[in-house]
Amino acid sequence: MEINIVKGVHDVYDDEARAYSKIEDLMKSIADLFAYSEVRSPVLEHSEVFSRGVGESSDIVRKEMYDFLDKGGRSLTLRPEFTAGIMRLIIFNKLYATNELPLKLYYCGPVFRYERPQLGRYRQFNQFGIESVGHDSLYNDLEVIVLAYSILQSLGLENVKLVINSLGDKESRDNYREALKGYFAKYIDNMCPDCKQRFETNPLRILDCKVKEDQEICKGAPKITDYLSPASKERFNKILESLSALQIPYDVDDGLVRGLDYYSECVFEFHYVSKTGNNYGAIGAGGHYGSLMKELGGPDLPGVGFSLGIERIYSVLKDDNLLPDDIRNEVVAYIMPMSDDVRTYALDVANCLRMSGYRVDMCYDNTKLGNMFKRAEKKFAQYAIIIGEDEFKNQSVVVKDLKTQNQENVSLDNLIDYFDDIFGNDECECGCHCHDDDEECHCHDHECHCHDKD
Ligand code: HAM
Repeated sequence: MEINIVKGVHDVYDDEARAYSKIEDLMKSIADLFAYSEVRSPVLEHSEVFSRGVGESSDIVRKEMYDFLDKGGRSLTLRPEFTAGIMRLIIFNKLYATNELPLKLYYCGPVFRYERPQLGRYRQFNQFGIESVGHDSLYNDLEVIVLAYSILQSLGLENVKLVINSLGDKESRDNYREALKGYFAKYIDNMCPDCKQRFETNPLRILDCKVKEDQEICKGAPKITDYLSPASKERFNKILESLSALQIPYDVDDGLVRGLDYYSECVFEFHYVSKTGNNYGAIGAGGHYGSLMKELGGPDLPGVGFSLGIERIYSVLKDDNLLPDDIRNEVVAYIMPMSDDVRTYALDVANCLRMSGYRVDMCYDNTKLGNMFKRAEKKFAQYAIIIGEDEFKNQSVVVKDLKTQNQENVSLDNLIDYFDDIFGNDECECGCHCHDDDEECHCHDHECHCHDKD
């Protein structure tokens, strides 16, 4: 009997897998330009990391964690998000003591949430994200938003919408919580069971309720903006002013409270509706957190970060025809050994090309030349490299251009130069192209003289 895939998870292969790698590589390279370093945290953490970190009143902890007792009776959880685990990693390894602050870390990998599967919502999905820890400057918050925005722009998502709000400092949120309690007290008896519980534990969470009738009640609730302390108000206004100065468009949404309990001050989400009208929800989100590190037993250091949903970003890029165009499984050349006697030689030819940076594949069985050409076509090969007894004896190959159908015999010694000429890969050590017009090369005196004549 065929074994089914687990509900809510998905297999990623072929073009989609290549696209994920390209998307993640681009995210990593931009984070690197912003001077972030990679960190790899475990998928498994003690459940406490998230119950204390993300918060007991959050839906993630209450309903969505994949938690279980291991064989030693410990309560463990498959990470439902990265941020709390990254704080645990920083505390456990005392990174705050050995590194310059802020610690600027990026990460990428799978996360697990027991949610109802639907468009853009999986039970195992991938996030790329960053955390900047140990500096309270509003400009740090700002730079984090700029980084997320730059990544999304570089992916071609020009119409991404930044939605932003401030949850204020502790004083602001304490006052706001009281105001919300006062407001919801009149309605709570008729609200959903989740809201009744949220009313007791964290009334801010009520604003996140997805029940239609409750959402109507939420529309009349007090707004956080009216309860921000002067310091939080000033901080938020400065961030908005700077976003305008940097020409990053935004919408302030005073109903944006985020589903995780650790946030304070500025929170944000990136929304994108594809041209086909598909709305996958937020493609990324984040914010400032004032006391998460302390909650987890570490020093009192603030942080700010965001996470981007790889699946959702892939979906909007696909919908809008914005996927990188080099994700086809194509090879430069397909190698065609004419018999088993030349197969070892063919493998040597393939490896020479591969080690020089050319993606090549080869035929492994004895089949007709016509079949090999069909396989080359399926692999979008630009060249066929045909190897028979004569070529083996002469230490050469026949290279056939599959577009023009021209073919020529090339000696193995010249094969790499032959392809380097075609693909313009004849750079000197210094990265210049001295040989492009057969000029004298001065590269080896470790100084580039290419521009001397200009
Ligand atoms: P989050 O909003 O829970 O934030 O998740 C971030 C992103 O992950 C979402 O915007 C969405 O793109 C994606 N995502 C969330 N749930 C799913 C799902 N079930 N299926 C597919 N994609 C999903 C966080 O995780 C915070 N840790 C962000 C953060 C980092 N805040 C500060 N630092």
